[in-house]
Amino acid sequence: MAKLLYEGKAKQIFATDNENEYLVYFKDDATAFNGEKKGTIQSKGMLNNKISAFFFNLLAENGIPHHFISMVSDREMLVKKLEILKVEVVVRNIAAGSLAKRIGWEEGTKLPTTILEMYYKNDELGDPLINNYHIKAMGLATEAQVAKMEEYALKINEVLTGYLKAKKIELIDFKLEFGLNNGEVILGDEISPDTCRFWDSVTGEKLDKDRFRCDLGNVEEAYKEVLQRLTGEAV
Ligand code: TMP
Ligand code: ASP
Repeated sequence: MAKLLYEGKAKQIFATDNENEYLVYFKDDATAFNGEKKGTIQSKGMLNNKISAFFFNLLAENGIPHHFISMVSDREMLVKKLEILKVEVVVRNIAAGSLAKRIGWEEGTKLPTTILEMYYKNDELGDPLINNYHIKAMGLATEAQVAKMEEYALKINEVLTGYLKAKKIELIDFKLEFGLNNGEVILGDEISPDTCRFWDSVTGEKLDKDRFRCDLGNVEEAYKEVLQRLTGEAV
């Protein structure tokens, strides 16, 4: 039995025989509002594993370094060992969620320019919004590492937005986590309907975790629809 190194809200991380690699297991557990709302989304682990693997491969083709090595099973992926930077990077194209609330913008308002936000990855504090001055003062990352995260985040936005448009999906916003591998900043975590907002380009229907957060129903169906549009894989 592989050693469990860390258990988060949606994933477990296991050691492997190779000290430079971890095994990630995707769970069906879902939480929202910093763990206040808890539930299960049937098949989510499998769907997020497959969707993330798809996006990591797409990003590799576009020159973005990331931790994904290979899919091991429906719910498991092998990744490079990372020292995660305690900064969550959010990229926004259209106002929704906490931005709409904080600024008073109506949900769905197209932003004149892309907005990039940083949050302190700390569950006890509820992942507070921070800026580059906080990151420097708190020693969360160096200026060069922050510059890399910003460069990659904007490039990832370009790649994903274009790709998803062709699949009739609007990329509203998404969250990224980066880590250090041999001292280099690379993309970690996952890219899935848990960490992105996807809206159907034609109907505006939400195809992401907001269906769970806001009790909209058909949660599993929405995640399946995303995988199906990306890969053509019937699930
Ligand atoms: P927000 O509007 O709630 O700040 O969320 C922005 C984006 O970040 C959205 O695509 C969902 C994602 N996100 C996470 O991946 N994890 C989180 O804990 C939160 C709050 C948001
Ligand atoms: N994953 C987050 C949590 O439970 C929140 C969210 O995705 O809305 O804390």
